[in-house]
Amino acid sequence: IGQNLISLKSVDSTNNYLKNQLAKSKPLPEGTVILAEDQFAGRGQFENKWLSQPGKNLTFSILLFPVFLAPLKQFLLNIAVSLAINDTITSFIGCDCKIKWPNDIYFKDKKIGGVLIENILQGSKWKYAIVGIGINVNQLQFDDRIKNITSLSAIIGKELALDTLLSALSSSINNRYNQLKGNDFENHIEEYKKNLYRYQSMHAYESNGIPFEGRITNIKPEGQLEITVGDEVKSFSLKEVKYL
Ligand code: BTN
Repeated sequence: IGQNLISLKSVDSTNNYLKNQLAKSKPLPEGTVILAEDQFAGRGQFENKWLSQPGKNLTFSILLFPVFLAPLKQFLLNIAVSLAINDTITSFIGCDCKIKWPNDIYFKDKKIGGVLIENILQGSKWKYAIVGIGINVNQLQFDDRIKNITSLSAIIGKELALDTLLSALSSSINNRYNQLKGNDFENHIEEYKKNLYRYQSMHAYESNGIPFEGRITNIKPEGQLEITVGDEVKSFSLKEVKYL
């Protein structure tokens, strides 16, 4: 991953850039990385915007062909990628980060980064996956409207070199991806749970407008979050549950 690196000064979104190149039948090798200094229409999950101060942070996308994954097991790619980012960031800042389901990276109760994976399938056959990653590295000022956000340099009090971090992330994602190819996913799920934000502790959530308290007790290989409420286990897909 990252052998073929395309660095752009400014682009709408690195995910879109990759998608457009592939739509034009441009052959790109697996592991191609598109890196942008500035994204003027960066996208997050759930149609959210991804805002990032130009030149301060990492915003990049990786092209993968995960043909070995059954379409129902797509979530395992999210798990592998989030674990790789979480490990790398933890080693850079020297303190524990957590993965907030499905794939945000958190330090305490603040978000450092996020992942937007776009899986493009034709019927039940893979075309490709675009793994878009945004990490707040050296940004110190954030839009007042965005709550609970931070950056690596805000945590450790010094700037980090973006290229060093990018190569560490690429090699760690590469390793996790190869483990996934080797079918090592039970291990990945166990590790994911160990690094999961709010795992096994009592917190407030909301579903269908109804608040409740419970403990996150499991993650399914298909991606659902299981929350134990009293003695009942409730299973949620993306968008079905909100963290309070
Ligand atoms: C999220 O937390 O909601 C996901 C954020 C993903 C942002 C990255 S930045 C690089 C890539 N290009 C995009 O437009 N989005 C992803």
